[in-house]
Amino acid sequence: MTCKCLVTKGCGRQAERVSLMLNWLCSHRGFVPSDAPMQSVVEFDNVGLRYGTGAETLTDLSFTLYPGSFYFLTGASGAGKTSLLKLLYLAHRPSRGAIRMFGHDAITLPRDRLPGFRRRIGVVFQDFRLVQHLSTFDNIALPLRIAGIQEKDLKGPVTEMLAWIGLTERADARPATLSGGEQQRVAIARAVIGRPEMLVADEPTGNVDPDMARRLLQLFAALNRLGTTVVVATHDIHLLQEIEGAQMMRLDKGRLSDPTGLLRHPPKPLVLKN
Ligand SMILES: Nc1ncnc2c1ncn2[C@@H]1O[C@H](COP(=O)(O)OP(=O)(O)OP(=O)(O)O)[C@@H](O)[C@H]1O
Ligand SMILES: [Mg+2]
Repeated sequence: MTCKCLVTKGCGRQAERVSLMLNWLCSHRGFVPSDAPMQSVVEFDNVGLRYGTGAETLTDLSFTLYPGSFYFLTGASGAGKTSLLKLLYLAHRPSRGAIRMFGHDAITLPRDRLPGFRRRIGVVFQDFRLVQHLSTFDNIALPLRIAGIQEKDLKGPVTEMLAWIGLTERADARPATLSGGEQQRVAIARAVIGRPEMLVADEPTGNVDPDMARRLLQLFAALNRLGTTVVVATHDIHLLQEIEGAQMMRLDKGRLSDPTGLLRHPPKPLVLKN
């Protein structure tokens, strides 16, 4: 596979790092986007989510996410962003409505097929969820080991990833000895290293400074240019300007506001003729 995708922002040494990172992302045997006509990655149709017997937390959600697109999910605290992301990474089933994911009905999916589906999705949890007894290196390497990548092949990418997130010196540290921002960087590295088909990130830059936030977003952008669909929930309005062509999803008290109708009825993809 030839890599045509380059992160446009950044220069000098940082740009070199990005292209190194892209080299391994391109060569790594993650999912390969097909040239077949664009199909949806996720389709929600009138989805509602209720916790217990209270009012619905999410109401009447209908939208489609397309391969290779980048979405920012915004909304006030308590609007339902994490709840929506949990539906996206199949941690919850909705109380009503239909969800299709990777072309399959996600609601009737047999339990034994869930792990296979989840492996196609990289998740950055709002509370990180690192494996406490594993080192930084081993936490990042985890998805590659689960995917059966040999030790000799994973050392390079994990080392490169550690350099990108600025934690080379902390490769052997356990999560409990890392700061919140450092743990967040490890969580992001772990989510992207396996080159998932969809990346779902919940406030992924909430604990880092603006420069690091931009750097981490470059990682998401690089993955996105390789075909990964990215959904980032964030309060940080500065991030929204960083990704050209990103679409906005805004939750307001559990309802998705879609003033232009683009999420519900996206424009047909352009078909280039010879
Ligand atoms: N497991 C749960 N049981 C009951 N209620 C829940 C549960 N999880 C979330 N809620 C409620 O659902 C609503 C939406 O919560 P959610 O965490 O999705 O919001 P959020 O937009 O991610 O907020 P924040 O920006 O603070 O992270 C809140 O009122 C919350 O209290
Ligand atoms: Mg949240």
